[in-house]
Amino acid sequence: MILAAMPKVMIVYYSRTGTTRKLAEALAGRLNADVVEIRCDRYKGGIFRYLRAGYDSVKGNLPPIKMPETDLTAYDLVLLGAPIWTSYPALPLRAFLAAKPDLPGRVGMFLTSGGHSPQEKAVAEAEALLNAPLAATLAVQEKDVKEGNFSDAMVGFVEEVVPGGGAA
Ligand SMILES: Cc1cc2nc3c(=O)[nH]c(=O)nc-3n(C[C@H](O)[C@H](O)[C@H](O)COP(=O)(O)O)c2cc1C
Repeated sequence: MILAAMPKVMIVYYSRTGTTRKLAEALAGRLNADVVEIRCDRYKGGIFRYLRAGYDSVKGNLPPIKMPETDLTAYDLVLLGAPIWTSYPALPLRAFLAAKPDLPGRVGMFLTSGGHSPQEKAVAEAEALLNAPLAATLAVQEKDVKEGNFSDAMVGFVEEVVPGGGAA
């Protein structure tokens, strides 16, 4: 019997308060993926950092970030994760994409949000920065991530990016 090799998947994500991290870790478990976090100190902390994030996001002020050092082209698929900020992907992910990292041909994206913004604007922004369409997208509301109520959406997304490939 010939078994199709599982694609090598890398998850690159940013999370300010842990919600997107929880989704990233669930996806990694499902896809047996490697994970790397985009680090950005500028928005760590309380209300003033929150307000700064909102202001910078509207203005498009990209923050300094710590770029992942892994060779992402060694993967078949990269999944990018971020919260939605002012309808766009959070600035640290925008900064990552603006740095024009070398990526494989297939890139998907997952987003978390407070629930008051649809994903379209964030997806369009990511595709513009990538200069390529995303293979698949997933958007989950923060409260559903926190309550662990995202398994159906996640399984659908995994099936799109790796047909028949997600661990049960
Ligand atoms: C600066 C800022 C702007 C935000 N803007 C939006 C928004 O436009 N629409 C929305 O639905 N949620 C918005 N949110 C809520 C986050 O998307 C949501 O809390 C997210 O799940 C947080 O993810 P994290 O815990 O991984 O940082 C915003 C949060 C922040 C900090």
